[in-house]
Amino acid sequence: MQTSTTQTRKSVTEAPKGKLGVLLPGMSGAVSTTFMAGVEAVKKGLGAPVGSLTQLGKIRLSPENRPKEGGANPCMIKDVIPLSGLSDLVCGGWDIFPDTAYKASLKARVLERALIEELKGELENKFPMPAVFEREFVKNLDGPHKKKAKTKMDYAEQLMADIEGFKKENDLKRLVTVWCGSTEVFQKIKDVHTTVEKFERGLKENDPDIAPSSIYAYASIFSGVPFANGAPNLGCGIPALTELAETKKVPLAGKDFKTGQTLMKTIIAPGIRSRKIGVSGWFSTNILGNRDGEVLDDPMSFKTKEESKMSVLEDIFDPEANPELYSDYYHKVRINYYPPRGDNKEAWDNIDIFGWLGYPMQIKINFLCKDSILAAPVVLDLALFMDLASRSNLYGVQEWLSFYFKSPMVGNGLTPVHDVFLQLIKLKDMLRHLRGDVTFAHLGLNYEDIYDLS
Ligand SMILES: NC(=O)c1ccc[n+]([C@@H]2O[C@H](COP(=O)([O-])OP(=O)(O)OC[C@H]3O[C@@H](n4cnc5c(N)ncnc54)[C@H](O)[C@@H]3O)[C@@H](O)[C@H]2O)c1
Repeated sequence: MQTSTTQTRKSVTEAPKGKLGVLLPGMSGAVSTTFMAGVEAVKKGLGAPVGSLTQLGKIRLSPENRPKEGGANPCMIKDVIPLSGLSDLVCGGWDIFPDTAYKASLKARVLERALIEELKGELENKFPMPAVFEREFVKNLDGPHKKKAKTKMDYAEQLMADIEGFKKENDLKRLVTVWCGSTEVFQKIKDVHTTVEKFERGLKENDPDIAPSSIYAYASIFSGVPFANGAPNLGCGIPALTELAETKKVPLAGKDFKTGQTLMKTIIAPGIRSRKIGVSGWFSTNILGNRDGEVLDDPMSFKTKEESKMSVLEDIFDPEANPELYSDYYHKVRINYYPPRGDNKEAWDNIDIFGWLGYPMQIKINFLCKDSILAAPVVLDLALFMDLASRSNLYGVQEWLSFYFKSPMVGNGLTPVHDVFLQLIKLKDMLRHLRGDVTFAHLGLNYEDIYDLS
């Protein structure tokens, strides 16, 4: 019996040709350097791309859509979806520190020195371009490598010239931007963010509510380059820029890479909910000592992060639909800057749950994670999938990439999905759709094709 629900179509995606540029605002940071060094290490066979769905993930396809009709299932995603290869990536970007990627990798203290030394040749020739930076938006940080301009529009134009120059210099066919810069202070959407016209006027008039991250996003979208936002600040997530992305037919995605504690939450909470176990409280605390931790030590940057981290449980538990289980749960998130830990974050979760007849129980999670080790494969996947979206003529908000974000951006009128398993289904359904394959109904009627947690 057929388990498919939608029509079969021809693949809509052009095969990638030539080199793909990956532009990273925040190029000297822990995440960017771990990503860039990691890609070079994988290319040299010095490590495996663990954590990357594009490199290690598999997907089930209907028999007629497999490379060899009726062949093995599941198939490697990278074998059946036209993604750029690692050898076609050229990384660059901007930072307020001028260090080469080699020096910045050493300073980030994520990867071992011996590995970085083996990659010295590849990393030493990568320099960040001068940044667009305003101290008001990142209070605990400053650096010397900054652009000078009279207006925010001038800054945007300088960034566009950088993008064009980088493309020419490296003979690139396409580019994507992934924001890996510091978390900016908390901002509400203001009038200047609401339309392209108002935003452009604001750029020309130096409106104080336009953050550097949104100037990068504007420059990228205006240049036809997809933009993904790895931090919780507004960046591309304002109506003016979603409007611009629609007009320019550019894909957008955001926001805030889902790694560490929030990833764990969106893995565990769906299980608790699916067994109809109640929750009366979820207390999360972290210690971390990298530069990101230092930036988040400023209360306004922390507020941006807090808002992003808080939203996931509301969606998964849906207290309105499950009032007897989740209407009164207390959720608290803390981040504490503790320099001795560097990038080795430690996260604790105490979950107060209740079961049959309301009897209380507790779950404790102690996650000793390496933030940037979890974030680097997310940057890689986003770069490759955003490029895939662009070649597939998908534009505007790419909700199918919610899998990678703490606060997924969604189109008008839609609510974000946080459950990581539903997010994976969405992502794979989009890949099947782009391949011209059917989506599966998960009815349990055909065991070869139904479960796709491969
Ligand atoms: N697991 C993770 O590591 C993780 C998860 C979710 C989100 N994030 C977010 O990703 C971002 C990067 O994290 P990180 O650990 O690499 O931080 P980091 O502090 O090591 O790196 C950030 C870099 O951005 C640079 N920067 C700041 N403002 C800039 C600007 N306007 N233009 C260009 N460069 C600028 C800084 O100089 C720094 O080198 C942060 O916003 C963080 O909150 C990280």
